[in-house]
Amino acid sequence: MKRKSLWALLLVVLIGLAVCATLMWRPAIPLLDKPLIADAASVERGAKVVEQGDCAVCHTRPGGAYMAGGLPLVTPFGTLYTTNITPDRETGIGGWSQEAFVRAMRKGVARDGHFLYPAFPYVHYSRMTDTDIVDAYHYLTSVDPVQARAPDNHMMFPMNFRALVSFWNLLFLRNDPLTDVPGQSAKWNRGRYLVEGAGHCSSCHTPLNFIGGEKGSEHLGGGLVDGWHAPALTGLAQAANPWSTEQLVAYLRAQVATDHGGAAGPMLPVSLSIAQLPVEDAQAIAEYILSLPATTSKAGPACAATPPPAADNAEGAALFAGACAGCHGAGAPMRTVDGRPALSVVSAATSDSPRNLIKTILEGIPMSTRQPSHYMPAFADALDDSHIAALAGYLRNQACAAQPWTDLEKTVTTLRHEGASK
Ligand code: HEC
Ligand code: HEC
Ligand code: HEC
Repeated sequence: MKRKSLWALLLVVLIGLAVCATLMWRPAIPLLDKPLIADAASVERGAKVVEQGDCAVCHTRPGGAYMAGGLPLVTPFGTLYTTNITPDRETGIGGWSQEAFVRAMRKGVARDGHFLYPAFPYVHYSRMTDTDIVDAYHYLTSVDPVQARAPDNHMMFPMNFRALVSFWNLLFLRNDPLTDVPGQSAKWNRGRYLVEGAGHCSSCHTPLNFIGGEKGSEHLGGGLVDGWHAPALTGLAQAANPWSTEQLVAYLRAQVATDHGGAAGPMLPVSLSIAQLPVEDAQAIAEYILSLPATTSKAGPACAATPPPAADNAEGAALFAGACAGCHGAGAPMRTVDGRPALSVVSAATSDSPRNLIKTILEGIPMSTRQPSHYMPAFADALDDSHIAALAGYLRNQACAAQPWTDLEKTVTTLRHEGASK
């Protein structure tokens, strides 16, 4: 009897190990003997796919060579660095076959068989068409090869053990390529394809659960990224300050959207990428996004009403007049000539959370080499936490006097230190 149960236990353990091995082991795919000669037409299409997927936003570090990697990404599980995806044979993906590249994009497995961390949004790229992935491959083999190795990652135990990602994949990597939804227009389907596939919008705009997976039930319902709040992309057409197609297209292409302003923070590079694509792509994205109904029944804050007489915020008003009004004041050229909206209507001021307003004041909007671009200086060094809190309180009162933000100074201190850890 005892012997029998021991054998049974052994059998269970062996089956368990076999299952784990199948799950956690992937073969290496041999290196190509000679470099691939990229196909010209494919390269041209691939350049667009790479913009749709923002590959350079992560794979190029500020001041670094194009696609040579080395950008640190801070996750709750540690810091990891993007890799070199130039066609350098030794340190990049120069020797990768098409099969190896497609496997990385669809399954999150590197050529040598190691699992890639889901900070690389393969969960979304896996939904792209074969043609788009192959075009991106041809394009990347055509860029300048650069020798550069990413610094070592600092992932916490047990996430430093890459094979554990295989369990994560079981939960979050679905095998469901995007197919057109019948009854919807070609434009809507194209927009959905860009949003849910290469655009990986939900990786920022959806809240994450404790193991870093997107909460499916709150898809595009708003998330957090690098200390910024990525607002819900659902119900935009019905919001208190509703978005029109025209405004959304302008915003997505890094231009000024009347009544909404322009992109800042982690959204800025995304919009600068979309700006390089044909305008039809931004129009398709807008068509799809504006069709998404609000996911929460909670009505947005009733912020649109005219503010009551300013309360006790003379300090905020004085700071605004001195530091901000030259650009954001009613008579400033940025308002009258460029047509930028008053800060009282931008989502950073009307949102439930003061994060984006505070982050914008701390970090400003960095100068970009890409067109079109807007610039705002950073005030982290010029204003202390109590000044920023007074300014935020003042601007909130203009935008939404009925629902003041609380604990502003503490939030400023926290956000300032969150930023400093990187
Ligand atoms: C949000 C940031 C981010 C974006 C956007 C991104 N990547 Fe990555 N990518 C990473 C990170 C981080 C890694 C390394 C993961 C690891 O080491 O586990 C990576 C790894 C890879 C790898 C594996 C390379 C290797 O040496 O193992 C390939 C291939 C790749 N990315 C291609 C792309 C392409 C193509 C795009 C655009 C369609 C893209 N990536 C967009 C973050 C990103
Ligand atoms: C890297 C993270 C990230 C990705 C990827 C991303 N966004 Fe954003 N998005 C943000 C952040 C952060 C904000 C807030 C920016 C601000 O306040 O200026 C934002 C703001 C927006 C807004 C303005 C919402 C409002 O109510 O003001 C829209 C619209 C938007 N994003 C659409 C998209 C679409 C469409 C995609 C995919 C093509 C996308 N985003 C991909 C981070 C991201
Ligand atoms: C040199 C001009 C300049 C100055 C000075 C300036 N800003 Fe800005 N700011 C901009 C530009 C350009 C934008 C782009 C977005 C737009 O179109 O509204 C912007 C955007 C913003 C946004 C919206 C960001 C978002 O998340 O979408 C906020 C909030 C903001 N500024 C606050 C301030 C405050 C507060 C001050 C003073 C401490 C200030 N700005 C000073 C130029 C400036």
